Amino acid sequence: MRKLAAVAFGAAAVLALGACAGEGAGGGGVEGGETLAPEDVLVGVSMPTQTSERWIADGEAVEAGLEELGYDVDLQFANDDIPTQSQQIDQMITNGADVLIIAAIDGTALGSQLDAAAAAGIPVISYDRLIRDNENVDFYVTFDNYDVGVQQATSLLQGLGILDADRNETGEEGPFNIELFAGSPDDNNATFFWNGAMETLQPYLDSGVLTVPSGQTDFEQAAILRWQQETAQRRMEDLLTSTYSDGTELHGVLSPYDGLSRGIITALQGAGMGPSLADGLPVVTGQDAEIASVKLIVDGVQFATIFKDTRLLAEQAVIATEAYVNGGEPEANDTETYDNGIKVVPSYLLESVIVVADNVEPALVETGYWTQEEIEAGQAD
Ligand code: GAL
Repeated sequence: MRKLAAVAFGAAAVLALGACAGEGAGGGGVEGGETLAPEDVLVGVSMPTQTSERWIADGEAVEAGLEELGYDVDLQFANDDIPTQSQQIDQMITNGADVLIIAAIDGTALGSQLDAAAAAGIPVISYDRLIRDNENVDFYVTFDNYDVGVQQATSLLQGLGILDADRNETGEEGPFNIELFAGSPDDNNATFFWNGAMETLQPYLDSGVLTVPSGQTDFEQAAILRWQQETAQRRMEDLLTSTYSDGTELHGVLSPYDGLSRGIITALQGAGMGPSLADGLPVVTGQDAEIASVKLIVDGVQFATIFKDTRLLAEQAVIATEAYVNGGEPEANDTETYDNGIKVVPSYLLESVIVVADNVEPALVETGYWTQEEIEAGQAD
């Protein structure tokens, strides 16, 4: 054993030397098996935006976890602007970051930053969203994004009464009219959510239990750039005008994110529907358990969301960072699913939960994600 360890250490030392040769101005990076003392570690954390509360929570949770280990953290939010995110990452590399944790705005726009990170021996952890088309993505922490899409479609089918709470068919045959929304086309997750959802809905579309009256069933038609609430509201308003002004009923809307859901609900209510599910507001799905949407769920307005416990995701990013700092490799639980166009990135996937009015309490309150007061106020403390 000892001998093996010595050989491994030798090989690691050679690799470490190799990494040093390519180091950038900041002199950061831990790739190649060297171990850093906690007080010497600087981690760059790049988050896409502060307009969605989940990314603020993610950023703060990652920062707190890393600081607990004694690391320095450079946390930046990029305002959903690609050049801003590129500059912030460039700066982190120049400042001597040893590890980078990045939730990309556009999964394909960070090529030169990743090349620079690799040249400086800095491991890159892709956070929640996969960075594409570059070989220098070392690890990926995320949720099972395909399953999130399955859950979104399942919650739509449950809201329409086609499936029961245990996901069994009730025999309800509709027919129901639905419309479909997808996330940002430059976010790799959006396709996973869409595929999971569409494969779940397809049998019901084939059998005529579900129909999409607008005919807009392609990802490109349904996609909302940068996950913008206003864009979703506008598209819903346009659909209502083009397809539903003749009195055609709308029963449900597949929405992949709470911000979009709230834009969609505003459009529906603006057209005189609802205002709540009990008064005929269509079933609208979601994702992220954002506080404003959790209140809408409790109030019987939005039907469902998908809860992804970002505290657990942040924890995995911290665990992966620690592995690199200690000269090792993070442990993956999936080494097949996430091909970024160049390679399959070893990943750690977490599970998500469907939340409807009935399980807000156990899923979100008892887990300490939101307090009862926050939910009643529809606002984080
Ligand atoms: C996705 C993420 C979702 C949601 C969305 C909009 O990448 O996985 O949870 O936050 O972005 O921000």
